[in-house]
Amino acid sequence: MITAKTKIAGIEFDSYIFNASGIKDGTLEELEEIGKSESSAIMLKSCTIEPRKGNEKPREINLPFGYFQSEGLPNLGYRKYLEFIPKLKQYKKPIIASVVGFSLEEYRVLVKTFQESEVDLIEVNLSCPNIVEEGLPIVYNFEKIKELLDKISNLGEKPIGLKLPAYLCYVLQEKMADLIKQYNVPFIASINSVGNALIIDPGKETTLIKPQKGFGGLSGGYIKPIALGNVRRFYELLKDKVSIMGVGGIKTGQDAFEFLLAGADAVQVGTTFEREGVNCFQRINKELEEILEKKGYSSISDIRGRLKYL
Ligand code: DHB
Repeated sequence: MITAKTKIAGIEFDSYIFNASGIKDGTLEELEEIGKSESSAIMLKSCTIEPRKGNEKPREINLPFGYFQSEGLPNLGYRKYLEFIPKLKQYKKPIIASVVGFSLEEYRVLVKTFQESEVDLIEVNLSCPNIVEEGLPIVYNFEKIKELLDKISNLGEKPIGLKLPAYLCYVLQEKMADLIKQYNVPFIASINSVGNALIIDPGKETTLIKPQKGFGGLSGGYIKPIALGNVRRFYELLKDKVSIMGVGGIKTGQDAFEFLLAGADAVQVGTTFEREGVNCFQRINKELEEILEKKGYSSISDIRGRLKYL
């Protein structure tokens, strides 16, 4: 039996599958559940400087093909997550902080603080779709991202990575990849929920969620092909220089295998974790291992990125 171990930015992960930020990872109890499960890492909820209650409810809904939400970043504030880290170390797996700043300075403080903590990696979330920014969101403003990377890419030894949105054209993917290559950014997570989506209840003639007149971020099966497209592009552009965490619609071992073919070094599971709970990590991992074994591959690196063309 093969084991689908992997590495992200040089750090070993016992399997290819772990939790995506934002799902059942906001409290110590939830994080301990992830710690005890077969998730190969503990990804923390994206945190901000101050605690936040998040948007008005109803703010999320599970639908047949995925998840739709405008949570508005409810979290306990970064100080609480710092307090949790020593307690989470007992689970002996990589701990990943996820941070969101409302200014470049806030991002700097958050990254610096987690650099000085016992987390293993830091995900810099640039792509929360439910926070209304003035002007162009940072993730489409490459000058601003450059300014940010000047401030955060050399604050410590721990690998930092960018959580990216769905870039829907090649020029944006290429620009982002060029910036990543210029700085010390050893991993990316691609993609975040696809923002500015709208779902309507035709019977009631209303929106499905309350915040932002019904607009929100879409995750799960709806976005899997978009996520695969982004992962593949970034794999082509960054190859072995940058590790890729694939995110978006991973429900089965076969989905994970498709992300592996596209070039992901690991996958994060959100919507399926929301529905199925912590057992999903073991199930998906087992299904992936069975596929690898059946196809005669002995490790993740045998097949990573080896998508064939027609
Ligand atoms: C939220 C949604 C996201 O997709 C994200 O990356 C961070 C936060 C939210 O609305 O809480």
